[in-house]
Formats: sequence, C-alpha cells, structure tokens
Amino acid sequence: MNYLPDVTSSASIQSVVLHTATNHDFLDVLISNAGITSLAQPLLSQLHETFETNTFGPAVLIEAMAGLLQKSREARVIFVSSELGSIGKRVDRNYMFGAIDAMVSKAALNMLAVCFAKSSESWETPAKIWCYDPGLVKNREKLGARSSEAGGQGLVPIVEGQRDCDTRKLVNDSGTLLW
Ligand SMILES: NC(=O)c1ccc[n+]([C@@H]2O[C@H](COP(=O)([O-])OP(=O)(O)OC[C@H]3O[C@@H](n4cnc5c(N)ncnc54)[C@H](OP(=O)(O)O)[C@@H]3O)[C@@H](O)[C@H]2O)c1
Repeated sequence: MNYLPDVTSSASIQSVVLHTATNHDFLDVLISNAGITSLAQPLLSQLHETFETNTFGPAVLIEAMAGLLQKSREARVIFVSSELGSIGKRVDRNYMFGAIDAMVSKAALNMLAVCFAKSSESWETPAKIWCYDPGLVKNREKLGARSSEAGGQGLVPIVEGQRDCDTRKLVNDSGTLLW
C-alpha cells in the first residue's frame, strides 16, 4: 500500500486515513509537504491546477485526519509553505517576485493553517500548527539552493517540540516571517 496520498484525490486520502486509523489509535504529527507550480495558461487554469495540490489537497487531508489528530495528546501539524506566500513580504517593493500561482496558493494555505488551529480549539488538546518555509531547495540550484534533505531538517526541531513558542506562525530555520 502507498502511504503517501495523492492529495488531489479524495479516494487516495481516504484510503490512507483508513489505513492509519486501522493501525493506530491517534496521530501525533502530520506534515503536509506536497507543493507544485504550474505553467498552465490562462491564469485561471494555472491557479486551478496549483490550488488543487497546494491548498485544496492539504484542506481535504487535514479534515480527513482531524479525528485521529484530536485523539493525540499533543498533535502537531506542519504545513510546508513558502515565503512566497507572505503578503507582508510581497508589499515590499524590493522583494523578489515569484510565480503568482505559488504566491497565491501558499498565502491561502497559510490562512487555512490558522483557521484549522482555531477550529481545533474546541478539542480537549488543541493542535499546534506551523507554516514552514524550507527556503530555496534543490530544484533552484542555480540560485544557491540547498538540498531537499537540508530543507527537511528544519522540520525536526518543530516535530521535537523545540519550536513550540512559534506555533501559529510562518517560520523558517532562522525565525519567523511576516504573514
Ligand atoms: N523548492 C523550493 O525552493 C521551495 C521553496 C519554498 C517552499 N517549497 C515547498 O516545499 C515543498 C516541497 O517542494 P520541493 O521544492 O521539494 O518540490 P519537489 O521536489 O517538486 O517535490 C514536490 C513534492 O510534492 C509531492 N507532490 C506533488 N504533487 C502531489 C500530490 N498531488 N499529492 C501528493 N504529493 C504531491 C511530490 O511527490 P512525488 O515525488 O511523489 O511527485 C514531491 O514529494 C512544497 O510544498 C514547496 O512549495 C519549496
């Protein structure tokens, strides 16, 4: 069985949730990493394609996993986002320009994360959430990117509880970023 769902497929997500629920009583950590950019044209098609993976997929996944997360004594949910989703950065005229579908879908993902954190306040133990920017990783080597492994390492302290002071924030390895 493939434990990694295709987040654009509700059936695939449901299959993974069913498997997880069959084998485990609760879920402590959920990392939503899937992310793409699209070259589709026109813009509406590009946004549709990217939102399916970057935003709608994580929304369906988190909703489907909520029951198992709620049973954890300390649920942690990490949404792998991007600095490109920071509206605060975007209004800075000197800030780099990224692909519009990435920027818009990650900004929406950030809001989704905060909304999920808010909704989990009704749980006995609310979920801790973070939006995490791994920085430039492997597919941007020409810009001095680091490896995927190095980018993923930043998730470890979050999972281990060393960044609980930064919950409900957009974070990178150095600190926190503007929403
Ligand atoms: N690259 C950067 O510089 C950068 C910067 C900031 C943020 N990020 C974010 O970091 C995350 C990882 O990006 P990356 O650069 O490592 O990209 P990548 O090498 O292209 O990897 C994308 C990942 O998303 C998965 N994925 C794509 N579509 C999916 C779907 N429908 N369902 C489930 N998984 C799917 C891929 O799985 P498969 O391998 O199975 O296709 C792959 O593991 C993304 O959320 C991205 O937005 C990247």
